Amino acid sequence: MTDNINPLVEMKNISISFGGIHAVENASVDLYPGEVVALLGHNGAGKSTLIKVLSGAYRRDGGDILINGAAADIRTPRDAKKYGIETIYQTLAVADNVDAAANLYLGRELQTKWGTLDDVAMEANTRKVMGRLNPNFKRFKEPVKALSGGQRQSVAIARAILFDARILIMDEPTAALGPQETAQVGDLIKQLKQDGIGIFLISHDIHDVFDLADRVFVMKNGKVVGNARTQDVTKDEVLGMIILGKVPPGATPGPGAMKVS
Ligand SMILES: Nc1ncnc2c1ncn2[C@@H]1O[C@H](COP(=O)(O)OP(=O)(O)O)[C@@H](O)[C@H]1O
Ligand SMILES: [Mg+2]
Repeated sequence: MTDNINPLVEMKNISISFGGIHAVENASVDLYPGEVVALLGHNGAGKSTLIKVLSGAYRRDGGDILINGAAADIRTPRDAKKYGIETIYQTLAVADNVDAAANLYLGRELQTKWGTLDDVAMEANTRKVMGRLNPNFKRFKEPVKALSGGQRQSVAIARAILFDARILIMDEPTAALGPQETAQVGDLIKQLKQDGIGIFLISHDIHDVFDLADRVFVMKNGKVVGNARTQDVTKDEVLGMIILGKVPPGATPGPGAMKVS
């Protein structure tokens, strides 16, 4: 599909354990520019742990991370940001009492040449970014707590975009949202894809992500069961990977695939 370009991200043979328990074992995943890769599996499968290795929240015990084909030294969240990696967690890190612009510029406020806050520039830039991401968004003057879940989500994503995210990690982004807001987040993801951003979309629910994903990786008990292009497999086949570890013909098996004898 995209053989002629380097993957944005390659995680190779990643392992990490907590007190002797293998949370992630020998897991390999990759992601191309403009691609949505879903990471699926039951709760406790190791999805968040694997992705926290990429975001610098956890240090891996073994394995390699390559960004644009070159070895990446990611040990802290700050390292990850240097590589354009941003994470949107289920528990959104937005500041409730201030408006969208203040959230986008939290901790990196723009200043005028007199050293005062440049509210005009911050709001103008916020309108530009939000206008691209979510053209229906109009509530620039309201504190973020007054917004719907989907609107808050778009503020969090806009903040990541403003940080020049090239790689976006969304861990269960729609877990707390209703159907309409989930659809809204889907629209955001399609927009980001068009901008060439690569997205890891993590979910325990295949129905949330299958239609958005170009490829899926399934994890079970800390191992990758297999991966497939969504066009090559059915939802039921992916469910078979999630529940049984059974890899269908259209998928590539990983170290966690059920052994058939
Ligand atoms: N900080 C931690 N300390 C100890 N165990 C952890 C920690 N983080 C995750 N785990 C364990 O690692 C395994 C994988 O968890 P997690 O990556 O959160 O799964 P998922 O995101 O697929 O639901 C679980 O058994 C979990 O209890
Ligand atoms: Mg998780």
